[in-house]
Amino acid sequence: MNIGQFPQTRLRRNRHDRFTRRLVSENTLSTDNLIWPIFVTEGTGSVTDVSSMPGVQRVSLDRLAAHVEPAAKLDIPALALFPITPASLRDEAGTEATNPDNLMCRAARLLKKEFPEIGLIGDVALDPYTSHGHDGLIEDGYVVNDPSVDILVTQAVNQAAAGIDIIAPSDMMDGRIGSIRTALDTSGLVNTRIMSYAAKYASAFYGPFRDALGSGGLLTGDKKTYQMDPANTDEALREVALDLREGADMVMVKPGMPYLDVIQRVRAEFAVPTFAYQVSGEYAMLMAAIQNGWLDRDRVIMESLMAFRRAGASGVLTYFALDAARLLRA
Ligand code: PBG
Repeated sequence: MNIGQFPQTRLRRNRHDRFTRRLVSENTLSTDNLIWPIFVTEGTGSVTDVSSMPGVQRVSLDRLAAHVEPAAKLDIPALALFPITPASLRDEAGTEATNPDNLMCRAARLLKKEFPEIGLIGDVALDPYTSHGHDGLIEDGYVVNDPSVDILVTQAVNQAAAGIDIIAPSDMMDGRIGSIRTALDTSGLVNTRIMSYAAKYASAFYGPFRDALGSGGLLTGDKKTYQMDPANTDEALREVALDLREGADMVMVKPGMPYLDVIQRVRAEFAVPTFAYQVSGEYAMLMAAIQNGWLDRDRVIMESLMAFRRAGASGVLTYFALDAARLLRA
């Protein structure tokens, strides 16, 4: 008999039925891997839709507990908080960022009290607070590094004191992780963790987020002098190495799906908790196709999240967190 008649190995055998597929599955996705970003706003009784992010809302503090309740019920481990600062409180220097009673700090205190079990991640950067929409201070048209770090440090310590468990600097200034770590430690906040947005790219995929915050229209120029060039990955490894040396407990790659190669390299090189941010533009893209009936909602949500796990991500910040947790429970 001609041996060539039958393939020696049939990889399809292990795909034959569900039980075998379960046994040979290489990666898992669980609710433990989900972080839900939420937008908080001033005022009362306010729940508004973000038009470019169907299904995502901005919620005032009095509505926040009800908004977060489903996440608590689904046992989602952590929330990432993003405040929307009214234009009247924005200025050139992002002063409101350092107000210990700003919206972010009030949201943190409220959520810690209502849901002590849920981890709170606080974004540290000046863009929600500046009139120009940049993440740092501007001098002569340039986002200056060290003076920006000084403000970010105060912002971070205030957030931690208000109950933020994980400080997440998203500003991409040099040296901010080390400065924030020292300030937290000297303030007695030794257990506050730092998840650094270590490899954060100057990306077009943040557009809908800037709509949500109302900082998009304000932004003068772009963020290319501090966020990374989408062409680079070696540089991402240097960013991660520095942030780890300065005391980061976890690192993040952002955006997510277009940057899976970066997640994979970071994970392979450093073997540290590595998170991915499935950013607003990725969400908007998927939702647009879902709403047109072009993609199957449940399947594409789960496949996109599993892709992050396969690349090596410990977890994913995703606007689909509630949907995914429900699907995982079903
Ligand atoms: C702010 C920040 C941004 C995002 C998270 N933190 C926007 C930006 O850098 O312009 C984007 C998140 C998203 O698009 O979902 N520093």
